[in-house]
Amino acid sequence: MLSGLMFFLLLVLEPVVRRVTARSDEAVLRLRRHLIVIGWASLGLGVVSGAAWLVLLAARLTGQPVAAALAAGVVGKVLTETRFGDDCLVRLALAAVLGILLVRIDPVRGWRSKAEGMTAVLVAAGFIASLAWAGHGGAGPGVPGTIQLAGDALHLVAAGAWIGGLVPFVLVMDCARRQRSATWNVVAADVTVRFSAFAVVVVAALVLTGLVNTWFLVGSVPALVGTEYGRLLLVKVALAVAMVALAAVNRLSLMPRLRHSTEQSASVLARLRRNGLIEVALGLAILGIVGVLGTTPPAAHTQSLWPFPLRLSVAALDDPASRLPALLVLAAALGGAAAFLLGLLARRLRRPAFAAGTVFILLAASRLGPFTVAAFPTSFQASPTGFSARSIAAGAALFAQHCASCHGAQGRGDGPAAEELTPPPPDLTGADIARQRDGDLYWWITNGIGNAMPRFAAALDDTARWTLIDFIRASADARRFGAGDKPVTGVPAPGFSVECPDGSTPSLEEFHGKIVHLIFAGTRSAGRLQHMGHTAADPGVATVVARLAPSASPDGPFCSTDDPDVPETFARYAGAAAADLDGTEFLIDQAGSLRALWHPGLQPDWSNPQALADAVASIRRGTLAPAAATHVHVHN
Ligand code: HEC
Repeated sequence: MLSGLMFFLLLVLEPVVRRVTARSDEAVLRLRRHLIVIGWASLGLGVVSGAAWLVLLAARLTGQPVAAALAAGVVGKVLTETRFGDDCLVRLALAAVLGILLVRIDPVRGWRSKAEGMTAVLVAAGFIASLAWAGHGGAGPGVPGTIQLAGDALHLVAAGAWIGGLVPFVLVMDCARRQRSATWNVVAADVTVRFSAFAVVVVAALVLTGLVNTWFLVGSVPALVGTEYGRLLLVKVALAVAMVALAAVNRLSLMPRLRHSTEQSASVLARLRRNGLIEVALGLAILGIVGVLGTTPPAAHTQSLWPFPLRLSVAALDDPASRLPALLVLAAALGGAAAFLLGLLARRLRRPAFAAGTVFILLAASRLGPFTVAAFPTSFQASPTGFSARSIAAGAALFAQHCASCHGAQGRGDGPAAEELTPPPPDLTGADIARQRDGDLYWWITNGIGNAMPRFAAALDDTARWTLIDFIRASADARRFGAGDKPVTGVPAPGFSVECPDGSTPSLEEFHGKIVHLIFAGTRSAGRLQHMGHTAADPGVATVVARLAPSASPDGPFCSTDDPDVPETFARYAGAAAADLDGTEFLIDQAGSLRALWHPGLQPDWSNPQALADAVASIRRGTLAPAAATHVHVHN
């Protein structure tokens, strides 16, 4: 309210009263006095609630009751040793400056100089923007964190300027209603016009920064409709839209009537005031929601529950049978959009164009069938296991135990019990499954399908079910990777961590941006590693060694891992048994996808540094030839 007041004084009220009213106008004097009181009350509330926040936070950080925290001097520690404390001190300093500026507002003349008014706006904006550091935006690192923080700060300034400006707006309307004079009708009309113009800029800033924030904290439509956070946000947006609608009524319908007739103006002013009050109430409701949002985990960090039985999908465009109807629907939708555009551009054609556009859009909407597929509450949930060698290995063990009897050891649908089942268990490594979302598979494994596919909600816990999906995905990927007839892309390498000579333990993900050369080294590979250690290294390639037996290979200059899950998992992609991996090498591209495979005996021979450099170069060019047409291992 304080910052809204400062904006309102400088940009809306003072320019109007200075031009329209006489200097001796008693009503202006009273209005300014009112506003100054509001300013002091807001400042006091800001300082007191800020102090209470600090004390409560200190108590919560130490887990002590408030009195104990106060006695133990924790508050001072938080104030001097945390970023939140720094933020508090900055805010206190800004509050002090604002106090001085409030004293300087003269009820008779307003601001003594324009510079003072502008200083007040800047300091008040800083006061409210500094709240962003205490919010979620304060947490992110790097450039995205900075963008989020800047977005948060601007959002706060804009929201304060708008919602806080509404109270002075209502006071002006109230004052004008009592005055019942032509002068004050002009004041009311001009204030409405100026405040509306100001609000347009502010609302644009709110929408933009709100979108940035939503992108960071929600990130997707399922998260928006499927989480508590997202739905609260939708309610908040709906309230803001209602505020904008009321503001539009004020500006477009009510304000012009003030200009024309003086007799009606009392009732118009009453309505302006009432709409302003409703906007204030909506604004307060929004602030209440913001308070709840602040203590709700952001949607991007929680699993969503999809509320609809269908979801959109463009898979129909891949299927020759449904491609034509799908394209017709798409054409109708585009035609509708084009008609609306035409109507907007060509005023004369507006009616027929809008009518045609509506018909096209309704037609498209009623034929959406090809673009929808069945969806489940878990459809948009993501695996929390992170597709690691460990989770795939865990999933493999569970699959062998619970699923292989029907689905077959490799998930190909050929288990011993498969023959008696109708429908037969599907090949889980096929293209049909590849199209399903992880969350759909999760739903089926959890709840079963019909009579043939059992439900595992009781037998397997949440994590177990997700590891099964990692295993199913890995099996399908391994099959694609091993098919070797065309270059494969988008086969993610299972994740794992390595130990490096410098003592760090990065995960595979942390090598993104480099090409990873992964070598499985057993007793036979000692010579290869020694040789690798002596050849000049390409700085864009990180060599990583997966040791098959801890003693098998010497510690070279390479990062390495002994984790047995790594060979077990990668053996699937090599089409070999884990025990036969000695000497097998993979290349993983900068984005973390498996791209090429080599083992002794395969041409071109990667033990020749030039051949390896060629393979690396073709990954960089994006023209890597298929890995290996055969995965029959020839070494012995
Ligand atoms: C008793 C035999 C049986 C067992 C055990 C079994 N399934 Fe199935 N599963 C089926 C059958 C049959 C279907 C096809 C059901 C249908 O389409 O109506 C199926 C379907 C599925 C599907 C859906 C595929 C699709 O495209 O619709 C998934 C995923 C799946 N099973 C995973 C698993 C996993 C994981 C396990 C082990 C935890 C498992 N199943 C255990 C028989 C079995």
